[in-house]
Amino acid sequence: MTAVGIDAIEIWTGKLKLDLPNTFAPEKGEDPEKYTKGLGLNASSFPDAHEDIVTMGANAAHRLMDRKGLTPDDIGRIDVATESAFDNSKPVSTYIAGCLEQVYDGDFHHANKGERKFACVAGTQAIDDAYNWIKAGRNRGRSALVVATDTALYARGDPGEATQGAGAVAMLISEDPSVLELSTEQGYGSADETDFLKPNQQFPSVDGKRSMQVYLARMREAVEDFESVSGDTHPDDFEYIPFHTPFPGMVRKAGLLGYRHMIRDTTVEEELADEIGFQPREDEFEDREAYEEAIRDYMDKLKETDQYREWYGNTIDPTLSISREVGNWYTGSVHIARASALRHALNEGIDLTGKRLLVGSYGSGAQAEVHAETVQDGWKDEIEASNIDAQIEDRYDLSFEEYEKVHDRHNHDKTIEIEDFTVPDGEFVFTGRGRMNERMYDFVE
Ligand code: CAA
Repeated sequence: MTAVGIDAIEIWTGKLKLDLPNTFAPEKGEDPEKYTKGLGLNASSFPDAHEDIVTMGANAAHRLMDRKGLTPDDIGRIDVATESAFDNSKPVSTYIAGCLEQVYDGDFHHANKGERKFACVAGTQAIDDAYNWIKAGRNRGRSALVVATDTALYARGDPGEATQGAGAVAMLISEDPSVLELSTEQGYGSADETDFLKPNQQFPSVDGKRSMQVYLARMREAVEDFESVSGDTHPDDFEYIPFHTPFPGMVRKAGLLGYRHMIRDTTVEEELADEIGFQPREDEFEDREAYEEAIRDYMDKLKETDQYREWYGNTIDPTLSISREVGNWYTGSVHIARASALRHALNEGIDLTGKRLLVGSYGSGAQAEVHAETVQDGWKDEIEASNIDAQIEDRYDLSFEEYEKVHDRHNHDKTIEIEDFTVPDGEFVFTGRGRMNERMYDFVE
């Protein structure tokens, strides 16, 4: 069977930064630790005046193609996953292809282009589509370009404002991939939910607290569905478990729930029993409420155990380092979680080849997807080539007044002109609107 998976990854962060503890918290009258400790975020990325979902996606894709020495003929498919699209008809992938055609000889006229929508899980779904296209033998030896790109903005004053972010992840999906092979096995947890949605509006309608419950419920269903085809999961099976990360505090909750699930009926549960007892079983309780209270009590104890802390520190915490500095990137979020983990392994000298990851994607509305990935021997070269640390470091640090202007600039209901904060250098930029209100782009040397 041909191995199919991720052959290359490039990340592009919005070039501006909002410092949450030092700039945002004082204006909101909040304790800075609500952001750094509670939500787990230090900063959010924002797009500069010349940036949007197209420029960020095209810039990530351009870097990827240059680094891998690709031409348009090598790409048979371009899918963009986004929940920040500005057009209900013309897909963002056509704009990105148009940008790339400005800098490459040849064109993408024979590449199938589309746009994937299911909130934040759409990036993983686009990878899935590419995987199926290649497995079906329809790719004619070519690879698929998947771009997850979002400006994750909330209305000013919405509790979600603290979790904003902007950036893109471009991934090349190929046969015999250098970085990660994807499992055939997958699990889904999917239900009609109204936790977070954008009914033809730019800023989301969010029921924040409920959205967290829905995330956990759907993720649990997806894990159980995955186990029904791959067998039970165990904490020792996976080197890292990247989750969709709207903010690291959400993943703290998902990690604890996942660990409890995985250790059930294992020797780990037995070993912990002396200290915290066995996990409550529903049939031991008269009603659901009493059972849920007992579960909450067990989880409170579980999270203080050395075993859990060590597992969380090794398996989950390394997935959160980029997210802490850039905020929520919606469709790109789980893909920067995976990249964070690989970057951590590189920095720590951990040999990952042949090791497995369990990847938990999630989109509001709502659907979770879980699959496994096996690290391939080209992973190190790929992660070494990434310049994401420098990009994060180089962002322009906004004052609160500047942040307000940037937010307005990217508000579709406002027409605000502001000066760029950074100087474009070897990148695509937004230049204005054309005759049919289309957005226009140029490459700046
Ligand atoms: N020191 C340390 N911790 C503090 C603190 C302090 N001074 N002040 C507060 N905290 C903690 C709180 O205890 C809380 O942690 P726990 O949940 O573990 O108790 C955390 O910081 C956040 O505090 P609040 O709950 O008071 O924060 P909030 O109500 O202002 O906002 C939110 C939280 C509702 C999640 C909001 O950020 C939001 O609406 N976000 C957008 C929706 C979202 O991201 N949902 C996630 C699931 S949906 C999804 O994943 C899809 C997606 O991408 C959007």
